[in-house]
Amino acid sequence: MEQPTPLVIDTDPGIDDAVAILLALASPEVDLRLVTTVHGNVDLARTTENALRVLHLAGRSDVPVAAGARGPLVHPMAERAGHVHGAAGLGGVELPPSPAALDPRPAVVALADLLLASEQPVTVVAIGPLTNIALLLAVHPEAADRIGRLVVMGGSAGAGGNVTAAAEFNAWADPEAAQAVFSSPVPTVLVGLDVTLPTVLGEDGVARFAAAGPIGETAGAILRQYMDHARENYGVDGVVVHDALAVTEAVVPGTLTTVPRDVVVDTGLGASRGQTLVDRRAPSGSPTAVHVAERVDSPAAVEFLVSRLVDLAGRG
Ligand code: RIB
Ligand code: CA
Repeated sequence: MEQPTPLVIDTDPGIDDAVAILLALASPEVDLRLVTTVHGNVDLARTTENALRVLHLAGRSDVPVAAGARGPLVHPMAERAGHVHGAAGLGGVELPPSPAALDPRPAVVALADLLLASEQPVTVVAIGPLTNIALLLAVHPEAADRIGRLVVMGGSAGAGGNVTAAAEFNAWADPEAAQAVFSSPVPTVLVGLDVTLPTVLGEDGVARFAAAGPIGETAGAILRQYMDHARENYGVDGVVVHDALAVTEAVVPGTLTTVPRDVVVDTGLGASRGQTLVDRRAPSGSPTAVHVAERVDSPAAVEFLVSRLVDLAGRG
């Protein structure tokens, strides 16, 4: 087997972030070297504590966690997503504290250090607001140049928004950061609502990994609030594990069908703030084109996630 790809996850756990981190730990194709945390679903202190605890849940408190930005680059967020993820961010589930100490370096420094030291290209998966990634581009461009692939969960080409009618949450939480990232030359794959919304994890899938061992049982408990929120708000009998689809693309490149597109973000203060405007008139040849995911085999992606979580749960 080839050398596993070095992986960094930048995250705002967050229920689907937690599942995405577990998926990465369950996947031998990647080697999770660092988790960096960012404000988002809940505040930075909580996203950071949650990242430490999710890694500990999976027996991987050896993976360093470095805390990043506590807010957006320019304008404060109007609200967070505690009503979706629970006030503490993990669906009301209190995980045991991790014995690991937080990495003392700021996230951007830890990320730059790893990128500059890695002999292999590093895949970075960003599944929260893009503040840390934008700061890396600004402060350590030489490190950003060492990113092999940046896989972003965020935005929407034609699927509307989820936090407003126009905007997806991660782009909306820091539009200026998203604009900086999508206009950079870093090879970027955009995993937006167009492919995440159709990819629904149903009760049967949750039941399979919940029954496979303690890690799966806890993951199922964390998802329970998300399931209830989806049923009450979307009438959907299942959950959209947005962030896990981004990790799936990182683990198995090509899972999603992508097209190079020019993407701009509405950084105004009006009703469409945070909207990602994807130019779908023709594929882009620009060096800053974003590889926008436009098609997904949702049943296959769900089965991949469930089978990997069953494997991980069985190790617990
Ligand atoms: O729109 C979905 C994204 O917003 C996911 O990353 C979820 O965790 C929330 O942060
Ligand atoms: Ca997230």
